[in-house]
Amino acid sequence: MEIKIKKVTKLPEVKQIIYIYNKIKDLGSGLLSKAEKNWLEQQHKLSPTELVSINQYDFQLMFIKSEAITDLNQQLEAVRKKGNELFGWAKKLKSKEIGIVNLAWDNDFVAAFIEGFALSAYKFDKYLPQEKDEVKVLSIAVWSEQTKSKQLKDLQNTIKYVFMARDLVNEPQNVLNATNLAAHFKNNAKQLGIKVDVWNKSKIEAMKMGGLLAVNKGSVQPPSFTIMEYKPKNAINEQPIVLVGKGVVYDTGGLSLKPTPGSMDSMKCDMAGAATVGCAVLLAAENELPLYIVALIPATDNRPSLEAYAPGDVITMMSGKTVEVLNTDAEGRLILADALHYAKKYNPKLVFDFATLTGAAVVAIGAMASVIMGTADNATFEALDQAAGYTHERLARFPFWDDYKELLKSDIADMKNIGGRYAGAITAGKFLEYYTDYPWVHFDIAGTAWLDAPESYRGKNGTGVGVRLLNQFFQQYIK
Ligand code: BES
Ligand code: ZN
Ligand code: ZN
Repeated sequence: MEIKIKKVTKLPEVKQIIYIYNKIKDLGSGLLSKAEKNWLEQQHKLSPTELVSINQYDFQLMFIKSEAITDLNQQLEAVRKKGNELFGWAKKLKSKEIGIVNLAWDNDFVAAFIEGFALSAYKFDKYLPQEKDEVKVLSIAVWSEQTKSKQLKDLQNTIKYVFMARDLVNEPQNVLNATNLAAHFKNNAKQLGIKVDVWNKSKIEAMKMGGLLAVNKGSVQPPSFTIMEYKPKNAINEQPIVLVGKGVVYDTGGLSLKPTPGSMDSMKCDMAGAATVGCAVLLAAENELPLYIVALIPATDNRPSLEAYAPGDVITMMSGKTVEVLNTDAEGRLILADALHYAKKYNPKLVFDFATLTGAAVVAIGAMASVIMGTADNATFEALDQAAGYTHERLARFPFWDDYKELLKSDIADMKNIGGRYAGAITAGKFLEYYTDYPWVHFDIAGTAWLDAPESYRGKNGTGVGVRLLNQFFQQYIK
C-alpha cells in the first residue's frame, strides 16, 4: 500500500476522521451533539488513554485525548502504537482517505502518530495477487496548525523507504540475487541525482576483494559491489559519512551449513544491512539533506558447492591481510572487511556498518535493540543514543576492549574469522576493526531486522530497521 500524506487547512471531507483534543470545548460547537459530548467526556474520564469512537450516520469519528507528557521518547512510542491501533480500525473500514484533526499535540507527536499509523499499512503481498489489498493508496489529510508541509513530505518519504527496505528483505533470493540488488539501487538512485557505480565480478577481481570473492566462490551467481555517492552542492561536510551494508542475499552457511528450521529458513534477511544503508541514502537524497553520504554494498550469496571456500582455507583480503577461515558461516565479516577497507579512500568523517552479523547478538539481547560497538568518539555514541530513543530503534552498546582481539589469533594467518564460544558479537566487531582506520560504529542488526511474528507498526518479517534511525541521526547532524 502506498501512503500519501498532505497538510490541509480545512476540515477534510472524508468519512473517517481522527480528532486529537485536550478539552471538549476545543472541538467547537458544530461537531458533536450535547449528548455525544457528555458521552465522550465520560468515556475519557473513565480511561483517558482509550480511543473513543462516535458514529454519525456513515461518518466514523475517533477521539484521542492528549495526555500530560512525562518521558518524551516513551510517549512518542505510545503514540506510534496508538497509530497502529487506529490503522486496524481504518483497515476494517476499508478507508481510502483518513482525516486527522490535531487540536492538542506538538509536531513531534503528530508525526509519530502518523508514522505508527502508516508503517502499519505495510504488507508483502506481491505474490498474493488474489489477496492483494483492495486499497492501493491510502491518503492521510492532516489538519494541524503547527505542522509544516515539509515535515509531512519528509515523513511520507520515510515511510516509502522503510517500505522499500522491508520489500528488499522480504524478497526471496531466487528473485533478488546480488546483481538484482545492485540494479535496484542503481535504478532508484539515478532518479535522485545520486552517483552510482556497480562493480561486476571482473572488476571485483581486479580490485582484489578477496573476502567477497571467497564467499562468492560456492555460488552460481556473480557478486556485486555497489557504490552510491550522494554529494549535494550545499553539503555541510567535506569528508563524507560512509555507510556500509552487508548484502548476503542468502546465507546457507556455506560448507559449514546451517540447520534449516528457525535458522536457514529466514536467511533471505541477510542483506538487511544493505537494504538499510541503500534506502537511507535514497531517503536522504529525496529529503534533500545537505549531507555528503556514501553507501558501499558488497553483495553475494553464501552456498556450499564443489567450488565453495572451505574451513581451513587461508584467504588474502583486499587490504592484504590474511584470514584463516574456520567457519564459512562467518561470511558477513569477510565481505564487510573489504568494503570497510575500501572506505578508507574517502577519508571519511565517520563510518557506520549495518549487518545481520551474528546469532550471538540475538542471543544476548533479542529483538529489542540492535547491538552497537566501535571506535567513534563519545559524542557520536551520544548522538546515536538520542536518535535511537527518539525513533525507538533502540541501541545497546557493547564493550569493545582490545582483549577480545586475542580470541581471533591464528597460527598461520593474520587472524581467524571466528573467535571462540563466547562474546561472538564482539569478536565479529573486533574482526572488522582490523580493516578500519577512521571513526567507526558497527551495528549488528541480526535481532532487529527480521521478526517472525508481527509486532505493532514494525510489522512481520523485514522491519526496515535502521532507516528511521539513520534519518534521525542525519537530521540531528545538520542541526
Ligand atoms: N547471517 C548470520 C547471522 C544471523 C543469525 C543473522 C541470526 C540473523 C539471524 C551470520 O552470517 C552467521 O551465520 N554468523 C555465525 C557466526 C559464527 C559462525 C561465528 C553465527 O552467528 O552463528
Ligand atoms: Zn553466516
Ligand atoms: Zn550471514
